[in-house]
Amino acid sequence: MKAITVEPRKPGTARFEEIPEPDVHEGSVLVEAVAVGVCGTDVEIVEGKYGWAPPGATRLVLGHESLGRVVDPGPTGGLKRGDLVVGIVRRPDPVPCPNCAVGEWDMCRNGQYTERGIKQIHGFMSERWRIEPEYAIRVDPGLGILGVLLEPTTVIAKALEQVAIIGRRSFWEPRTVLVTGAGPIGLLAALGAKSHGLDVHVLDRMESGPKPDLVRALGATYHSGSVREVGFEPDAIVECTGVGQVIADSIQAIGSSGIICLTGVGHGGVVTAAACADIAASTVLKNNVIVGSVNANKRHWYKAGNLLARADRNWLSRLITRRERPENFERALERKPDDIKVVIQFSEV
Ligand code: BGC
Repeated sequence: MKAITVEPRKPGTARFEEIPEPDVHEGSVLVEAVAVGVCGTDVEIVEGKYGWAPPGATRLVLGHESLGRVVDPGPTGGLKRGDLVVGIVRRPDPVPCPNCAVGEWDMCRNGQYTERGIKQIHGFMSERWRIEPEYAIRVDPGLGILGVLLEPTTVIAKALEQVAIIGRRSFWEPRTVLVTGAGPIGLLAALGAKSHGLDVHVLDRMESGPKPDLVRALGATYHSGSVREVGFEPDAIVECTGVGQVIADSIQAIGSSGIICLTGVGHGGVVTAAACADIAASTVLKNNVIVGSVNANKRHWYKAGNLLARADRNWLSRLITRRERPENFERALERKPDDIKVVIQFSEV
């Protein structure tokens, strides 16, 4: 079968190539790939900045935002042939640490977790893939190709849950949320925050294109300046850019007792000791919490499934701005100004 593979930490090594059929040890459920979303993590892996091949291998099958159709449900589990499924990305560490032992692999304490398409287990950018039944999430068949948005939605389901849990440390009635970045994660964060009845604001660099309209279609407010110019002190900020300046501005702009949840993974930028002290002082004086959030466990997959199933399908479909064939994967990895979510489509839904 054909797959998109890469040699992690070596830029320019990605290719669409013939590989053996998935091994039965990878799981008793056999799935035919429908589509795989492309995200910043995939671009980083292809650029040689991130990613790990499976033990004993040099190449990794890319892709962690899956959607596939069950070809063989195997002997256990409740799946049927033809079901649309999405694969959970992370697997618990083998020790296991206390969090992995209780199913919170998203909070793994020793870093020995593995992730499909990212860290030591092959991903989903292959014509067929196998999965353990307990890690295959059935999606509402009515969602069709939109099921490919489930994995990024799980990341947001966790981030919003973190904010809500932290908010319970004191009396807190959040009304306003600022989401920084109107990429797929930011827009899904806006969708999730709206579902909690909050006054949602989204900030992005783009002044035109699909992003402002998508934000307004949710009943949220779009901003294209800097965080310092939004004109209010948000109760919560969901940071989805990973850009140093946006993060530093967010820490200044957040309201008293407000929570900033960081979901973006950025690099570099200028950090000075003075800026660190200013950030700390502002955080102390306003009782702020800055929390990082990565990945998702089964509870978040359940919550994300509900959020997607209830969302307006027309709005969700506008998030998928480009579909590419697997042989054109290089085009799928390019970022164009109006791109939101680009998917690699292996077969029809
Ligand atoms: C994925 C997560 C993963 C994280 C770190 C993200 O792109 O969506 O599932 O945990 O990268 O590897």
